[in-house]
Amino acid sequence: MKLRDTLDIDEKGRLRIGGCDCVALAEQYGTPLYVMDETHIRNMCRGYIRLLQEKYPNATVAYASKAFSTLAIYEIVRQEGLGADVVSGCELYTALKAGMPADKIYFHGNNKSPAELALAVREGVHAVVVDSLYEIDVLNVIAGKAGAVQNVLVRVNPGIDAHTHRFIQTTRPDSKFGFSIADGTAQEVICGLSEKKNLRFAGLHCHIGSQIFELKPFALAVDKMTDFMERLFVTCGLTVEELNLGGGYGVTYTDEDKPLAPWQYVDAIVEQLTACLQKKKIAPPKLVLEPGRSIVGEAGITLYTVGAVKEIKGLKKYIAVDGGMFENPRYALYQSKYDAAIADRANQPPAETVTVAGKCCESGDILIEDIRLPSVRSGDVLAVFTTGAYNYSMASNYNRNAVPPVVLVQNGESDYIVKPQSYEDIVARDAIPARLGERK
Ligand code: LLP
Repeated sequence: MKLRDTLDIDEKGRLRIGGCDCVALAEQYGTPLYVMDETHIRNMCRGYIRLLQEKYPNATVAYASKAFSTLAIYEIVRQEGLGADVVSGCELYTALKAGMPADKIYFHGNNKSPAELALAVREGVHAVVVDSLYEIDVLNVIAGKAGAVQNVLVRVNPGIDAHTHRFIQTTRPDSKFGFSIADGTAQEVICGLSEKKNLRFAGLHCHIGSQIFELKPFALAVDKMTDFMERLFVTCGLTVEELNLGGGYGVTYTDEDKPLAPWQYVDAIVEQLTACLQKKKIAPPKLVLEPGRSIVGEAGITLYTVGAVKEIKGLKKYIAVDGGMFENPRYALYQSKYDAAIADRANQPPAETVTVAGKCCESGDILIEDIRLPSVRSGDVLAVFTTGAYNYSMASNYNRNAVPPVVLVQNGESDYIVKPQSYEDIVARDAIPARLGERK
């Protein structure tokens, strides 16, 4: 197994992240524990910004915060010059609370509520990315009441078949996202926007899917989007000021994954875009990219303590850890694969094949199926890699398990960025109506 750049193994064979010993982190903070490497996150942000400054300066990187949304991450990405893509009222609230300027925020979602839209208008987000006629009507009324003219990007579906898990593809013809370019709906909707006095058409958005390893689907998306820009100009006289092409750049979960470096995707996108704009004689729009996973994915690991070890003779050996689908539902949802190591014997060769099970009351609660590890004992600290994206952000309190805390590490220092949840925190919002008590 190839080690991620956030990790190293010391001379005693102990795994470290951001200069912190993983066993020591597990002892200090308890397990399960999400650990995020600050240097990796900053390097990723800087890589995107540097490349765009060089190749397409009229560009913005909006961190897709659905991948990992906490106050500290908005603070880090803001310091690095990124904006944010938010997808719910509370992601928006968190971003604003962390000090992300509203005019660097893109508000997404295929069914934003009127309350969420009102918050976005009130706070003055840079753009609402509209995704239904219903939303367009509601937003126009809300902006009107606020005496505002709200910038909108229109989410379109360019119909690209990106080779990734079906649940994270977003531009199949039957996708719930976007207005179809192919059937003419996108054009109709955009041309109709001029009747909405409190909305201002600022541009287009598409996102073709996530965890994509090939360049071709991105190049194809650029082709289709610039074709569409040309058509909008010719038929409706509309100029697209901003072209937001979403995110989706793949990361390494296991050695089977062979993603390109994130900037290689961006490089290819920019080259294709520049060529298409020239060929089609379109004025260059502002380019917006929304990477999520590639900024935080490999920055994260999760530490667990191994509890029960159970062998089903001739069939399978389970090692059960103190986490599970409540803190990482990705195997249960997408059959995702992960690599892992035993934290104090990370240099030892594999000796057995085990399946890492979670502690939830459900057979599908698996974290890793059939992984080769040195022989595992109860009490070992297991480190699972590339858990920085879509783990904490997708966690739940299933079985009333606490969502683990998150610790940020750098140069041997560690600090909470999300504090532990106590049983009382989980129960605090429950209520027993008085009339239930009366029945006693
Ligand atoms: N922009 C939009 C509009 C998106 O919907 C997404 C991801 C992104 C940007 C960022 O994509 P990324 O760079 O992270 O691939 N829960 C799934 C992933 C769902 C992705 C949703 N949208 C998972 O765990 O794999």
